[in-house]
Amino acid sequence: MKRLIACAAVAAGIATMPTAPVFASPEDDLQAFRAYFKKKFPDVPFEEFKNGVYAIDKASREQWEEIEEFPPYEINIEKGEAIFNKPFKNGKTFADCFGKDPSTVRARYPKYDEGSGLVLTLESQINACLKANGEEPFKYKKGKIADLSAFFAYKARGQKVDVKVEGPKAEAAYNKGKQFFYAKRGQLNMACADCHVYYAGSRIRADILSPALGQTTHFPVYRSKWGGLGTLHRRYSGCNKQVRAKPFKAQSNEYRQLELFHSYMSNGLEWNGPGARK
Ligand code: HEC
Repeated sequence: MKRLIACAAVAAGIATMPTAPVFASPEDDLQAFRAYFKKKFPDVPFEEFKNGVYAIDKASREQWEEIEEFPPYEINIEKGEAIFNKPFKNGKTFADCFGKDPSTVRARYPKYDEGSGLVLTLESQINACLKANGEEPFKYKKGKIADLSAFFAYKARGQKVDVKVEGPKAEAAYNKGKQFFYAKRGQLNMACADCHVYYAGSRIRADILSPALGQTTHFPVYRSKWGGLGTLHRRYSGCNKQVRAKPFKAQSNEYRQLELFHSYMSNGLEWNGPGARK
């Protein structure tokens, strides 16, 4: 870890990386982000980045392809479907909130909502639906919410990520997410960008760091380490803890804004969740 930090300090001086210029539009950021990863991984076709570390590391890709033959998250998709169809106490179902076709749900989020001033995420809307129907909300990081999110993700496979950031308020939320992504934090004083932009492809302990481009397309993710499925915000929290920073709450404003920026950076890639990781 010490070496990694020393390297990160050196990397901070390199000019070609996408930094966080104040006046760049989201579209400019996106072009710079893609160009950076294209240059860093010239042999990886753009559409492959949806596969995270498996896009850039052949050895772990082979293991992963074997896992995907009998996907560990299959049962979760089935559970999610049952949750989608099960009536609430008032007789309504999730279809009353999201519409009857579950394949249309995943790609609507994240999205900035002018009315509430919040970034709406798939998970926040699942709980909003429960509350509107007088049901107890789900826990945000795993369990039922991840199962239902896995079902929506599965149904949306193959659609393109097309997150919109329109208008000054949406841009302000996006910029907060972007600042979060590039801000150093924790006792190790490292940013998301240190590990997943500048050091993407490098080894850290037993892991190879995945590129930030494409990181959000395949959530929720089944992780062997978790022994189950987890949401994107569960991962954010884990990555904050890795640098010994205090994590924010799942579905806090901070993580929602981060998700808006982070997902926008994957525009044009395919939704391909749920995923499997070690
Ligand atoms: C000290 C290095 C480090 C920092 C800093 C870090 N991460 Fe990670 N992150 C990892 C490692 C290691 C993994 C597991 C291997 C991989 O997929 O990159 C990981 C995995 C992830 C994944 C899952 C990727 C996938 O394909 O499933 C996401 C998403 C993620 N990180 C986001 C973030 C965000 C957002 C931040 C900033 C809040 C962050 N990380 C900060 C080390 C880090």
